[in-house]
Amino acid sequence: MKGAVIFRSRYGVTRQYATWIAEDTGFDLKDIDKDSIDLSLYDRVIIGASIRAGKFINSGWIHKHRDELQSKDLIIFSVGGYPPSAEDKIEKAKKNSIPEGLNYRYFALQGKISMDMLKWWERAAFCIISKLDKKNDEIGNIVKGFDFVKRENIKPVVESALSE
Ligand SMILES: Cc1cc2nc3c(=O)[nH]c(=O)nc-3n(C[C@H](O)[C@H](O)[C@H](O)COP(=O)(O)O)c2cc1C
Repeated sequence: MKGAVIFRSRYGVTRQYATWIAEDTGFDLKDIDKDSIDLSLYDRVIIGASIRAGKFINSGWIHKHRDELQSKDLIIFSVGGYPPSAEDKIEKAKKNSIPEGLNYRYFALQGKISMDMLKWWERAAFCIISKLDKKNDEIGNIVKGFDFVKRENIKPVVESALSE
């Protein structure tokens, strides 16, 4: 079985997770923004991207390749600020990003944000969000910054990718 880890990342967090997953599975590593990708070479495909404003940043790519992806053994992972337990937020992002009719196994991983990795207008947007929604602890954490990136987070993705 030949596999690929195909990712899109804005600040490098999904790239880090995808690199670890490729190392542990032996799958090819492909960056949507940099590499040419021939899906016909692969039986098992792992797709990863971060969530931004409630949508996966590779959503356009997934929609574009929907028909080809339908015939693959497909795993999708997202990287976001919210913990996997924030099911309503994550379900909403999935619905906004993944076309209906695709069969896949899904994993939500938590990423990181520090204010210094953001552009000034992104920092401003977060400050406005936190003012509008003071009761939301998770958005509060986003504004303060957080780092939940750990190599052990990829374990379930790797187990699923190596299963028969
Ligand atoms: C402008 C902006 C919007 C974001 N929106 C969301 C969101 O809607 N949901 C979420 O869970 N995380 C959100 N995040 C957090 C990112 O998904 C997180 O920082 C992730 O680690 C970035 O990964 P990347 O470097 O691979 O792009 C947002 C981050 C930024 C900077």
